[in-house]
Amino acid sequence: MNRHYIATLQELREARSKLVVLEGQEIGVYEVEGEVHAWRSVCPHRGVSICKGWIGGTNLPSQVYEYHYDRDQQILRCPLHAWEFDLKTGQFLLDASVKLKRYETIIEEDRVYVVTGSKSGSGIPS
Ligand code: FES
Repeated sequence: MNRHYIATLQELREARSKLVVLEGQEIGVYEVEGEVHAWRSVCPHRGVSICKGWIGGTNLPSQVYEYHYDRDQQILRCPLHAWEFDLKTGQFLLDASVKLKRYETIIEEDRVYVVTGSKSGSGIPS
């Protein structure tokens, strides 16, 4: 198990995200409503670097010709085919069984760490 310093919590909060490479693996680290989440940057669809995608919200189910945009800054959209994933759970919005791979995060004295090499840090589905 290896613990990697990423940024201070304040730096991550201001930037909202940080893309890092740890032990050869690209990982996106996100601050979402006061929580920190780290995801392996591999889209479950075709494997592109999903953490280079857009962070925003999504259109919730609504009536025809109505648009209900919500959950701003909580959704990661893949840059290739625009699949949308919940940044808190890693779940694909249209099929909760499809998930990003989670890494354990630790916040200690305002410092954010990502853990690799543990069961949770090896890319186990969240
Ligand atoms: S590669 Fe990500 S949605 Fe297709």
